[in-house]
Amino acid sequence: MTYYQERGTIPAKHFTVLPKPNGGRYYEELHNSLGFNGPLSLLYRINQPSRVLRVEPLTTLPLEPWNEGVVRNHIIDPALLKASGDILDSRVPVAFNADLSYSVASPDRSSDRFYRNAERDELLFIVQGTGTFESTFGVLHYGPMDFICVPRGATWRILPNAEPQRMILLETRGQIQPPARYRNNVGQFMSRATYSERDIRVPELGDPTDEKGEFEIAVKVNEIVTTYVLDSHPLDVVGWAGALYPYALNMRDVEPFSGRVSLDPDMDAVFECEGALVSAITPARFPDHPDAIPNIPDHNTDCDEILYRVASEGAQVHGLEKLTVHTRAAGHGAKPGHDRAEPGLMNELWAVLIDIINPLQLTTNAIPADDPAYPSAWL
Ligand SMILES: [Fe+2]
Repeated sequence: MTYYQERGTIPAKHFTVLPKPNGGRYYEELHNSLGFNGPLSLLYRINQPSRVLRVEPLTTLPLEPWNEGVVRNHIIDPALLKASGDILDSRVPVAFNADLSYSVASPDRSSDRFYRNAERDELLFIVQGTGTFESTFGVLHYGPMDFICVPRGATWRILPNAEPQRMILLETRGQIQPPARYRNNVGQFMSRATYSERDIRVPELGDPTDEKGEFEIAVKVNEIVTTYVLDSHPLDVVGWAGALYPYALNMRDVEPFSGRVSLDPDMDAVFECEGALVSAITPARFPDHPDAIPNIPDHNTDCDEILYRVASEGAQVHGLEKLTVHTRAAGHGAKPGHDRAEPGLMNELWAVLIDIINPLQLTTNAIPADDPAYPSAWL
């Protein structure tokens, strides 16, 4: 993340002893990034986190490319991508390249086991459902339109409430960060940013769990998922401090730009990583120049886009609750009948847009959820 936070009990100085009340000391754990040059946090734990009872194979999750023989635009119904299980079992990868993978997850139960992506950052977007995100850094309560950024190496799990859940899940090779152009030289959000520090929710750290026994963590590196069995509960943190931690941002707290004429969609960026830009499309005023066209021109020549139209404020929105993949092979723009609104009226769409620099490959999971007639949707 971008700024320093402290939770719980920590010593006055890093790399110094934090004594336990009844003798001994807490174990300091360095959660680092970019080698030791990126954001980092120090966690203080009751038990040594490196104590491993057993290492066991769990599964492999290969990304299976859909070799259709053409590159075209797609519309995909996420409701047809349903899978059950916890946040690991229920994720269905839809598209990927070397920089990222894009999945839809619909966890329908809590899991005793914890999860750690040891190779990639993860960005969740809650389309539907509420619950609790539990991690070594503390707890975040989530609900619709929440983004949750999880740095690689964090140990966490989702405890969904008893209601249907749907999430977008992005796994990225590069670090996910708020856009650099919206932050100043010390990382603070500038006033021209679409959100700021006070919109970000940082986990609250409750009492540590000091339990001995057998505790499983599913650790994902590339396509290999390994079960690590520890002899103490992984959420035994009494305090942490630093600038690397999971956090949440709700899309309703994003303040969109609007202009006299249309603005490029990258103005709506809320996160970036190497090879991709994540934008929050939120209701905003249409351009109010008397001759303005409310939509941006047909585009795209040098990136692929995945757009998930999440909700609308009552208006008829084409492709609502669908996911479109617009590739560089063909242009796209406003559909017929959707190309004009009165200047100054409000766009009522909520959507998550991801612009992806390197070509995307769809997976075979997308085949049953895909509408092959979509490339002609602009006729
Ligand atoms: Fe687009």
